[in-house]
Amino acid sequence: MNSYFINLKTKIQKKTINISIIGVGYVGIKLVIAFAKKGYKVNCFDQDHNKLKKLSKGLSPFSYISNKEIKGIKNNLKFYRNFKNIKNSDVIIMCLPTPLLNNKPDLSHLKSCWKKIKPFIKKGQMIILESTTYPGCTENLFCEDLEKKFKIDKEIFLSYSPERENPGDENYDFKNTPKVVSGVGYNSLNLCKILYNIITKKTVTAPSIKIAEMSKLLENIYRSINIALINELKIATRKLDLDLYKVIEIAETKPFGFQKFLPGPGTGGHCIPIDPLYFSWLSKKSGFDVKFIKLSSQINEFRTKWIIQKIISIAKKLKFSKVLLLGMSYKKNIEDTRESASIKIFQEIYKKKLTINYCDPFNKKFIFKINNRKLFKKSLQLNKRTISKHDIIIISTDHDIFDYELIKSTKKTIIDLRGKFKNFNSKNIYQL
Ligand SMILES: NC(=O)c1ccc[n+]([C@@H]2O[C@H](COP(=O)([O-])OP(=O)(O)OC[C@H]3O[C@@H](n4cnc5c(N)ncnc54)[C@H](O)[C@@H]3O)[C@@H](O)[C@H]2O)c1
Repeated sequence: MNSYFINLKTKIQKKTINISIIGVGYVGIKLVIAFAKKGYKVNCFDQDHNKLKKLSKGLSPFSYISNKEIKGIKNNLKFYRNFKNIKNSDVIIMCLPTPLLNNKPDLSHLKSCWKKIKPFIKKGQMIILESTTYPGCTENLFCEDLEKKFKIDKEIFLSYSPERENPGDENYDFKNTPKVVSGVGYNSLNLCKILYNIITKKTVTAPSIKIAEMSKLLENIYRSINIALINELKIATRKLDLDLYKVIEIAETKPFGFQKFLPGPGTGGHCIPIDPLYFSWLSKKSGFDVKFIKLSSQINEFRTKWIIQKIISIAKKLKFSKVLLLGMSYKKNIEDTRESASIKIFQEIYKKKLTINYCDPFNKKFIFKINNRKLFKKSLQLNKRTISKHDIIIISTDHDIFDYELIKSTKKTIIDLRGKFKNFNSKNIYQL
């Protein structure tokens, strides 16, 4: 039996391993908490020094994670800016962003991090990638360098385990969400499985790293396409005077073969608008142009544009000029504004010379980029006074903290993009 494998396995079982997590963002922080709660020592690496500083003071950098939770695990955490400390790690988990650049995968975060940690990689360590990426990426990124110094899967272990984090979701976490594990060989896979079995109830073994990478893309492609479908149906059924929410309510009584998706102002976040295009890019490179993914991105973008046009025409028709937009994040109860449709709506309405303000307790200030200029805005408090100063209220992201009874009671023109008032028939409420 391989001695590095046995050594690492024993250390995991005895809780004496040193786990390093690189990138303590939405995904990384959840892993930090999960391992630290189980009594493991976790090293946090991030280029964002403010984030590390906050964590080291026992403060949470994210609204949906309490300070109490961070304080409770603080003794098990260490914080590092300098990557040379990687040499003391047994397990290195990378949770770095994988955005798009000109519709192509942007691996710059992974590559620059790898360049920094490479000199400190030594025999007996396990490297795990959690970032979402295209099939083949993990092995392309690391194997060539690793092969020069080590026998892969014997002296060094390489695994891929895609994250299924859903920030702000209180129903699903590591305890009830199976975790996909994969490895470059038998030892890497087994170590990965043993490690994640500590924090999850169930691991699912993918037969190869490529299959694991593709499974994550499929999950997000599936969401992107279904969101596009329901967003397009929302526009079409409105024209036919059909209530799509009622249609969904009926359809979802089918116990098999149907999963509910709800319409919204478009898509947002780091996953749905981005990850499917990783696959389009890969497939095109291999000579096959996939159409479904591109179409779903186009429809989701069109949905936002359609909504903007509708809002502007409603404002014109009613001769209203003061707009209040609720929710800047791309989904409710978190602060993440990446690719948020709310930002696009705000910017376009501003460009039309209407007065627009926003309320979002998760984003107390925001810098918009409008015509190459920066516009600094502070979130207003959502109260009677604020509402009274505006003509139109747009519910763009339906944070639970908003007082919907108050919004409804003011009898202002409401543009509901989230179906908050779907059961409330009133002339001043537009369900778009
Ligand atoms: N957010 C989600 O809901 C979610 C869900 C599943 C998968 N993912 C995937 O997980 C990965 C990470 O996403 P995230 O949402 O956690 O991103 P994030 O931006 O919240 O976190 C990434 C962290 O990495 C740090 N970082 C960036 N480059 C670095 C570098 N070179 N060295 C050190 N630190 C660096 C950033 O400062 C940040 O704190 C992505 O591939 C994403 O697609 C995200």
